[in-house]
Amino acid sequence: MKLGVNIDHIATLRNARGGIEPNLVEAAKIILKHDVSALTMHLREDRRHIKDKDLYDIKALGANINLEMAATKEIQQIALDIIPHSVCLVPERRQEITTEGGLDVNSQKEYLKEFIKPLKDKGIKVSLFIDPDEKQIQASKFIESDYIELHTGSFSNAFEKGNYKAEFEKLSNGAKLAQGLGLKVNAGHGLNYQNVYLMKEIKGLCELNIGHSIISKAVFIGINSAVEEMIKLVN
Ligand code: PXP
Repeated sequence: MKLGVNIDHIATLRNARGGIEPNLVEAAKIILKHDVSALTMHLREDRRHIKDKDLYDIKALGANINLEMAATKEIQQIALDIIPHSVCLVPERRQEITTEGGLDVNSQKEYLKEFIKPLKDKGIKVSLFIDPDEKQIQASKFIESDYIELHTGSFSNAFEKGNYKAEFEKLSNGAKLAQGLGLKVNAGHGLNYQNVYLMKEIKGLCELNIGHSIISKAVFIGINSAVEEMIKLVN
């Protein structure tokens, strides 16, 4: 299983003062020295963390970018210009603190099927950030996505409360169903150094996308050690 590191949180810290520190490109260079599969970046419609220029700067490093994005024409144009390694379509509400809940693929199947075509035509792998729900998984298959990313937020919250079995089962069953349909399966959101070991019990997960816990740990032990420690837990 591979680790994708979400670097939005470094941009959030930088933007707090409106300057250039901490420098996102320098952080990316350090992270890329480790065995990570991608740098995950969410270009939000309000640009609250990652800015357009960040994408071009990180792309220039030759990094595999996993671009999290809303399914809007504006961001699609940017994706088609940048050609990230992969995109992950996420729901986006302006007022939310982070991505709350998975994308409702089922209610916009036809729109999304058309939306991803030009991305796939450019060789960009497409993923959909969904809850481990049968309808959403079937819809993801219908629109011919390459991957799904299972939203682990509910599991992570339940883990914190010490009662995660039901949420874990949902993830595990969801992964099995998706893999049976030929979809590749990633997971992410809220994963941390305590709960990530359980992801290894879900067979065949390709990649975990983790950000907040890694950047939080980096405050105490540095980004090199924080990334390395997470890689050890994920592998
Ligand atoms: N995957 C997706 C689709 C996300 O939206 C996020 C949050 O930006 C993550 C993974 C990473 O979540 P966290 O920062 O909680 O590790």
